[in-house]
Amino acid sequence: MYDNYEKILDELKQHSHFRDLKDFDSKDEKYIYFKGKKLLNLSSNNYLNFADNKEITAEFLDYAGNKYPFGSASARLLTGTLPVYKELEELLATLYNKDATLLFNSGYHANVGISSALNQKGDVIFSDKLNHASIIDGMRLSEGKFFRFPHNDMTALENLLIRERKNFNNAFIVTESVFSMDGDISDLKTLVELKKKYDCSLVVDEAHAFGVFGEKGLGVCEDLGIINDIDLLVGTFGKAVGSMGAFVTGSKVLIDFLINKSRPFIFSTALPPINIAFTKWIIENKIPQTQQKRTRMLDIARKMGSQSHIIPVIIGDNKATVDLCEILFHNGYFTLPIRPPTVPVGTSRIRLSLTCETEENELQILKEKINEMSLVKQAK
Ligand SMILES: Cc1ncc(COP(=O)(O)O)c(C=O)c1O
Repeated sequence: MYDNYEKILDELKQHSHFRDLKDFDSKDEKYIYFKGKKLLNLSSNNYLNFADNKEITAEFLDYAGNKYPFGSASARLLTGTLPVYKELEELLATLYNKDATLLFNSGYHANVGISSALNQKGDVIFSDKLNHASIIDGMRLSEGKFFRFPHNDMTALENLLIRERKNFNNAFIVTESVFSMDGDISDLKTLVELKKKYDCSLVVDEAHAFGVFGEKGLGVCEDLGIINDIDLLVGTFGKAVGSMGAFVTGSKVLIDFLINKSRPFIFSTALPPINIAFTKWIIENKIPQTQQKRTRMLDIARKMGSQSHIIPVIIGDNKATVDLCEILFHNGYFTLPIRPPTVPVGTSRIRLSLTCETEENELQILKEKINEMSLVKQAK
């Protein structure tokens, strides 16, 4: 029994694809403690250092007292909607100037729930090739058709729209704003033009941009002044906010449809009220104070050649990527190898993610080690 699974696992091991869970000793703010070493953590999504900041936790608990339970004990549609959920939804709808907002338990739930519900029989989704697995899974679960266009290739997308749009009823263009594994930013202004020209709805996942980009921290669409042109905007709370959960904001009809038809929303226990309260507290009280730090973080990233705080160091080969992580570990950095299927075959990489506490001079040795590795690669 299970021979086939063992065989697959052995193959994964042979090709440096095997994944395992790490036993960290602890984490605090920008550091992670692992195998007895204190390491600069360059592999978290804790971009604003809210997730494990002792002062923030103490301040929040002081504010929250015992007002918010640790369990919701019900799905939202049953008895799982306490006032704090509605307050967070209303806050986000107001910030984005949209009709309505709906919370999901995670970004994964949100993306699966949106694509699978909205893309009905006779409808179509045009999705960027590098969109997150949750968007892909949502499309796979849907009854509509979907096409994946080459990453950020607006000409290819337009050709696809010319060929296919007329064959479908509702059409959606779906993209991330900051791409999670490449750190580049989608061509959102052109996407807005295309969605208008070809009568599509535009869905933008701001998972890695929410809290980081834009004057108010609302994301890249805020930065570009195009929030009004986005039909559904998704944000997550598990990254810059340092919490858990996600939201989608848009028109009343789309949000009502999701409430009625989105299975990950309907069939899952709501997040704990204490968690919703923390998210709301961070968005209202803490993110507005981070503008300077966020700008500084993005400046450091741009100097390292990235459009965002996510910096891909593409090595190509799985083993060489794992080896570079090991070298960085011995030099005081915690980084992780990102391999297929998370990224396309032959593009294994280290995904560096900065936080607003990362200092430029702390990255000096890391840059040297990466350069050495590139020289070895070129020499081969
Ligand atoms: C672009 C994007 N969307 C959605 C998600 C999923 O969000 P969550 O971790 O809240 O499930 C991720 C997370 O890794 C992501 O990178």
